[in-house]
Amino acid sequence: MSKTNTLRHLAIIMDGNGRWAKKRGKVRTQGHKVGAETVRAITTYCSTHETIKTLTLYAFSTENWKRPKMEVNFLMKLLNDYLKNELDTYMELDTRFETVGDLAPFSPKLKKTIEKTKEATKHNKKLVQVLALNYGSRDEIVRAANRVISRDEPLTEESLSAALDSPYSDIDLLIRTSGEQRLSNFLLWQLSYSEMFFTETLWPDFSPQELEEIIEQFQHRDRKFGGI
Ligand code: IPE
Ligand code: IPE
Ligand code: MG
Repeated sequence: MSKTNTLRHLAIIMDGNGRWAKKRGKVRTQGHKVGAETVRAITTYCSTHETIKTLTLYAFSTENWKRPKMEVNFLMKLLNDYLKNELDTYMELDTRFETVGDLAPFSPKLKKTIEKTKEATKHNKKLVQVLALNYGSRDEIVRAANRVISRDEPLTEESLSAALDSPYSDIDLLIRTSGEQRLSNFLLWQLSYSEMFFTETLWPDFSPQELEEIIEQFQHRDRKFGGI
């Protein structure tokens, strides 16, 4: 008997922008710029997919502050511009924008753009696009545990899950581009039983076609969740 897995929540570690640019003799930031186009293309694909309800994208980690200031500043501006320019697209795609991660260190201007985009898209229904921003899974779990403790609740799997930044369903499929095979502090709790897929393709070259091929393989994986 063959059953097909349903993909509801897809998460992607968007990696390889710098190498993509280097290969072309360009500066790293050019890779991020083209990578933003891939974000649009993949979000568009997911918003029309029959079963995908949530797309979580790793955009900036708690460790990415270690990068040169110029690159960090570029990424902050790119994010601000992306959200502003793409508002029409979010509306057309009936897609809600959400975030996970600690937004506190971002500039007031960026925080305002993030809040405005969330507010403007909050009734959209087809897809939730969750950007992981200043996100680190250990940081998220510690903040969640502190929330539970401060409410004097017993610490259980349920109470901790509910206190995470991401009250979304468990992740069914995780993809990491660029050939690296590690999690880099992404969603350690939520990935417990997700299927993983690693592709050599660098993020700016990743396409809806390749995503479709990966989903096809995901559908035929044998997910057991500890059973037989
Ligand atoms: C991923 O691409 C984007 C971010 C982490 C913001 P990288 O910038 O990590 O690209 P590589 O890994 O250096 O090629
Ligand atoms: C992970 O990629 C973070 C994002 C994609 C935003 P990195 O490129 O920062 O991860 P490492 O340093 O290779 O593990
Ligand atoms: Mg990288």
